[in-house]
Amino acid sequence: MNAGILGIAKYVPETVVTNVDLEKRMDTSDEWIRTRTGIEQRRIAEKSIDTSDMAYFAAKQAIENANLTAEDIDMILVATVTPDQPFPSVACMLQDKLGAKKVAAMDISAACAGFMYGMVTAKQFIETGTYKHVLVVGVEKLSKITDWNDRNTAVLFGDGAGAAVLGPVSGDRGILSFELGSDGSGGKHLYQTEEDVIFMNGREVFKFAVRQMGESSVNVIEKAGLKKEDVDFLVPHQANIRIMESARERLNLPIEKMSKTVHKYGNTSAASIPISIVEELEEGKINDDDVIVMVGFGGGLTWGAIALRWGR
Ligand code: UT7
Repeated sequence: MNAGILGIAKYVPETVVTNVDLEKRMDTSDEWIRTRTGIEQRRIAEKSIDTSDMAYFAAKQAIENANLTAEDIDMILVATVTPDQPFPSVACMLQDKLGAKKVAAMDISAACAGFMYGMVTAKQFIETGTYKHVLVVGVEKLSKITDWNDRNTAVLFGDGAGAAVLGPVSGDRGILSFELGSDGSGGKHLYQTEEDVIFMNGREVFKFAVRQMGESSVNVIEKAGLKKEDVDFLVPHQANIRIMESARERLNLPIEKMSKTVHKYGNTSAASIPISIVEELEEGKINDDDVIVMVGFGGGLTWGAIALRWGR
């Protein structure tokens, strides 16, 4: 029996900040941002909406989409590097907001690979029969830790949340294989500073990402006993269109088989993969029994990939 996705949903804040808006605030241009990253706009949460609020909006909808209630959730995992506060965890706040049972709840810190770490953790509990329904949320309010005076990073990020309920699925559907990894020696390339803002050595992270996205994608396909031709859809972490394109080319996939939401939301870290899945489902691009490969990388350094056959 495999663990799979029973219901999934997203939440993005209403406020849209375009590249042209950023031109007015810093020395940058719409042209530079578009050509170097593929980003056209991003969503920024209001002051009154914190990470746990966005997590709640997405989670509530995901539970509904799974035809379940909060009472049915046996564990809550929240992947985030921008919690409301260091503790209590966003997962505990979410347990309360949802009115869920007093179940196990914890945050996972794996930056942009966090949703992959969350899904794989959920899979272990489900496939051993320990828990039936695990809520996994990827959520970030990166605007809280953005240095708005640093054009190298400020143009890249956005706020948002994606949530999925994982549980047992039928036949050969669900998670087929996964890979998780880390390399702490690269932590110096992407971190939160003492001043509580993001520092990034873009070029180093770029090189790592191009290498790792391709490699991990190929590895999960092989581990699942599949071939590149069997992949119906690639859902890469949405950091930079050029990094995403390199992964797509490595899998020899046509452009229409890769999810692209980076132009609308920027880099939403742990939220980018679930947000993208929701958008592709809405567009009818992911269907039952499609093989999808999800792959993420981020600060840590961390990475994670999953091959999954869609459907309940
Ligand atoms: O979720 C994981 C997190 N991070 C990532 O995935 C990011 C990975 N890295 C990247 O996506 C790219 O490295 C960036 C988009 C961050 C930068 O693109 P790049 O092609 O690697 O540019 P660069 O860092 O080599 O900078 C080129 C130039 C520099 O000017 P000089 O030194 O050549 O005169 C920068 O100062 O572009 C300049 N620049 C900007 N110009 C206008 C940097 N940011 C901006 C900006 N607007 N916002």
